[in-house]
Amino acid sequence: VKGGYDTFMDKEIHEEPMAVAETLRGRTSPSGRLMLDEMRIGESVLRSIDKIIVVACGTAAYAGHVAKYAIEHWCRIPVEVELAHEFRYRDPVVNEKTLVVAISQSGETMDTLMGIRHAREQGSKVLAIVNTHGSTIARESDAVLYTHAGPEVAVASTKAFIAQITACYLLGLYLAELRGNKYEDEVATYLDELGKMPGRIEEVLESEEDIREFARSLADATSVLFLGRHVGYPVAMEGALKLKELAYIHAEGFAAGELKHGPIALIEQDLPVFVIVPTPRRPLLHSKVISNLQEVRARGARAIAIAEEGDTEAEAYAEKVFWVPRTTPTLMMPLVTVVPLQIFASELARVKGYDVDKPRNLAKSVTVE
Ligand code: M6R
Repeated sequence: VKGGYDTFMDKEIHEEPMAVAETLRGRTSPSGRLMLDEMRIGESVLRSIDKIIVVACGTAAYAGHVAKYAIEHWCRIPVEVELAHEFRYRDPVVNEKTLVVAISQSGETMDTLMGIRHAREQGSKVLAIVNTHGSTIARESDAVLYTHAGPEVAVASTKAFIAQITACYLLGLYLAELRGNKYEDEVATYLDELGKMPGRIEEVLESEEDIREFARSLADATSVLFLGRHVGYPVAMEGALKLKELAYIHAEGFAAGELKHGPIALIEQDLPVFVIVPTPRRPLLHSKVISNLQEVRARGARAIAIAEEGDTEAEAYAEKVFWVPRTTPTLMMPLVTVVPLQIFASELARVKGYDVDKPRNLAKSVTVE
């Protein structure tokens, strides 16, 4: 059942290249144009929307955070990302010009379901990005863009996250094409880049043993920090969530730029701090995060970088680097940078003797509010 792996989580991490490929499959024409046949929301509605609100929980919400950077860049539509339980119980500004995008692996998360019901009552169209066919959220939405990650058994979401980002990117590129935005000409390039991501994830998986070995050296850590900027920020939060739920270690993910606004006070000798470093091909972004890395290291923390191959600065300041392939565009980086963090959390849970697939107190789908 576990395909030769010790745990479903490990199996599902190894299925990530396939999850991207399957989510892309059949959604582009031979000429490279996007075809989202299941897009049952009319083109005129999609042309008239002036805001997107992503409604989701946990890992799915972090996929939404990543998507915000891409969709705003490509489509020039403001994107808000809301935890579904917060969205539902405040008085959100949603109307017929708002597209609500609900992201859910299970399609049964009650908080998210209540959020979409609320949105539809206000006249919004709801597009669900869901992994489970025929699930309640899929049935109650105006349109569904399925992620084809295959069943996810482990409680900790891994391949579904990767597939959710892929589906969100398809949506963003579709809207850019439909609305004729100034980034329209980038659509074909980005579709092409998405198509290369399964191979790039495979490359990261080749360093699995190295990541696991390093994880074992941190088995006694009681607190771990993760920081990132731009799309690295939601990846940092996702890395922290994985570690909390699997290894029961206090972990916090935050925006690297926030470091000096408070969290730097937490940095002390030997504290493990993961830093998700943007590509050096974005010098402004890169230099900012490299200085965070230096600040962390100067205070005696164990700085671990997730960086692009050939990044000599990351190598100079970090105690350990987990490499991701070179030339991956910034917006695509979450699909590779999250992988070492997933492997790291799974290994720490294993070495501590915890149940990797069924962490304590958690359910695969949270069907109560
Ligand atoms: O099924 P959903 O995607 O709606 O679930 C949302 C969250 O409950 C889920 O992502 C949770 O945070 C995972 N355990 C994270 O690994």
